[in-house]
Amino acid sequence: MKVRKAVITAAGWGTRFLPITRSQPKEMLPLIDRPLIQYSVEEAINSGIEQVIMVTSASKRAIEDYFKHSPELENYLAGKGETELLKRMGEISGMADFCYVLQKEPKGLGDAVLMVKAVVGNEPFAVILPDDIIDNGIPALKQMLAIYDKYNAGVVAVERVGDEDIRKYGIIKPKKVEDNVYQVLSLVEKPEPSEAPSRLGIIGRYILTPAIFDILKVTPPGKNGEVQLTDALNTFLKQEKLYAVELEGTRYDAGTPLGWLKANVDLALKREDIAQEFREYLKKLLTSSH
Ligand code: G1P
Repeated sequence: MKVRKAVITAAGWGTRFLPITRSQPKEMLPLIDRPLIQYSVEEAINSGIEQVIMVTSASKRAIEDYFKHSPELENYLAGKGETELLKRMGEISGMADFCYVLQKEPKGLGDAVLMVKAVVGNEPFAVILPDDIIDNGIPALKQMLAIYDKYNAGVVAVERVGDEDIRKYGIIKPKKVEDNVYQVLSLVEKPEPSEAPSRLGIIGRYILTPAIFDILKVTPPGKNGEVQLTDALNTFLKQEKLYAVELEGTRYDAGTPLGWLKANVDLALKREDIAQEFREYLKKLLTSSH
């Protein structure tokens, strides 16, 4: 069955990015000139997704406002004869069929996914965590959909993580099935390095089947007192197969200041309109500091 819907989870407090996230949703921080969350939406659309379901919280109206049609701005730009900018602004509001679901309290990724049960219904769907920016010619989700189609089963994206970072990730126990693809035998959320079943950590992309919803309903809070999607997936394995894929591309954890800075610099160096001047600036900066 075709995957038509993608869920973007954007209801957390953004504690790793305080204090800016006191009043500014983390998902609206800019990468160059677009908010983080737009990269997730573009990835979904460029992977063939038709409907984007955002899980947000009451304090995140800025996300909904951003993707809304803005007649005032459009009239202003039309009046100024800014036709190119006007066209680009129209493209943002027309980007996808958007739907918003409120998560009242941030009770974990598992709880956020459970919120979309009624909107997703009885079909497979994707989950995107907008902190994880994956830069690649073939969008991350599109690479995962190819694995979903091949094995006709759920898929998670994984990356090799260093021992010092194991505690930040859901870690899988893998059985290799082909280059870069594994069958998942079990999963554990944020284990101690000594207890981790491998060094393959889940990065924020999932393709799931609707069986996950009934499991999430009865999944008790786990690590950090939150309902963990990783725990629900462990139960899911008793009913259905799950695969993991190491994706092509560069992944940034843009939900932290350092990861966000790296993403900004790398992406700026790829932007035709600013790359040359920015590269010269960086060169000068590096030579003058040595
Ligand atoms: C979540 C998941 C974790 C996954 C990570 C990827 O954790 O619970 O399994 O490895 O996203 O970014 P969080 O980063 O929200 O604590």
